[in-house]
Amino acid sequence: MSQTTANLAALLPSAGAKLVVEERPIPTPGPDEILVRNHAIALNPIDWKRIDFNIALPTYPAILGSDVSGVVTAVGSNVTAFQPGDRVLGSAAGMSTANPDHAAYQTYTLLLASAAAKLPAALPFRDAVAAVTSVSTATLALFDVLGLPAPESAAKPPTNTGILVWGAASATGAGTVQLARLAGLKVFATASPQHHDRVRALGTTAVVDYRSPTAVEDLVAAAKEAGVNVALAVDSISTDDTFPLVVNFLARFEGPKKVAHLLQWPEHVAKPADVEAEWVQGFKIWVARKDLSELVFNRLLTGWLEKGEVVPGPVRVTDGGLSGLQTALDVLRKGVSGEKLVVEV
Ligand SMILES: NC(=O)c1ccc[n+]([C@@H]2O[C@H](COP(=O)([O-])OP(=O)(O)OC[C@H]3O[C@@H](n4cnc5c(N)ncnc54)[C@H](OP(=O)(O)O)[C@@H]3O)[C@@H](O)[C@H]2O)c1
Repeated sequence: MSQTTANLAALLPSAGAKLVVEERPIPTPGPDEILVRNHAIALNPIDWKRIDFNIALPTYPAILGSDVSGVVTAVGSNVTAFQPGDRVLGSAAGMSTANPDHAAYQTYTLLLASAAAKLPAALPFRDAVAAVTSVSTATLALFDVLGLPAPESAAKPPTNTGILVWGAASATGAGTVQLARLAGLKVFATASPQHHDRVRALGTTAVVDYRSPTAVEDLVAAAKEAGVNVALAVDSISTDDTFPLVVNFLARFEGPKKVAHLLQWPEHVAKPADVEAEWVQGFKIWVARKDLSELVFNRLLTGWLEKGEVVPGPVRVTDGGLSGLQTALDVLRKGVSGEKLVVEV
């Protein structure tokens, strides 16, 4: 891990180009921001999609990335919850603000204090960073889109309320399983068999192989046997293949059905009239649902991590620090199985 105090950034110089590492100024936090000296950066599929499909790249050079963990070095005038020296993780808002100071792929990142959490002393930066988008996306899927009572609120879902999490080995799926469990739901999930033990340990009532031709039937049987009604679903994969399976599963249960999906529902895939479906919009974690962000990141996540109630997913560290981000992006573009790609800086 470098001891540099300069701010080095992995810049995307132009559309479709390879990342290049250059020095840029260390930013100063605005009133509601904290400056973090990053120690680990995690990649998300949206990072390579932004390059390949020109998403949220208004100007070049651009800086990608949203997930960091590190040490606070300065705080804005309104910030009382953090101070220099705090070990934190957080979700950087650059995809929304278009301000490169708010991007992850560099040594120093400005975070909204509302989207940061202190780390338990024993949790390494490289492991902690895997929780960022996993938790933010789960928060929005469950408590924004599906409207479930937030954990620790007085309202509780009715006993034996269940939820389907399709793709629980994914980073977002694993986060959703854990936050759903903490919200008092019984969780039914799919994942490849090599991830079943891990997904069970996160708190599922049943998990089946999504490649099995009887996956839906087997999960329905498990829920009925457990006496659980499952009218809610989070489709953490959201492909042409998964939407019909999720809908077929929900059709076997009572009451209004709702699916939170992570990618837009394609026009050519039928959406049954009796199923409400809503796209999870990740950028809401920074401003539109700051209430949820403050609740989960500022008030709950540190304790959950401390007690092991939320466990960050497995990580694979790519060598080379910021220079390794290009390699990691190329690997992620091909797809990963049950691991979060991370670089250390
Ligand atoms: N809308 C939003 O706000 C938002 C936020 C974050 C992510 N996303 C999007 O959500 C998707 C997931 O992101 P992520 O970071 O969680 O991905 P990820 O961790 O890279 O997902 C990889 C996992 O997907 C699983 N998978 C692939 N195909 C599957 C299928 N047909 N059924 C079940 N599981 C399957 C694999 O499971 P196995 O290893 O078990 O095979 C693999 O472990 C991406 O498309 C991403 O762009 C959207």
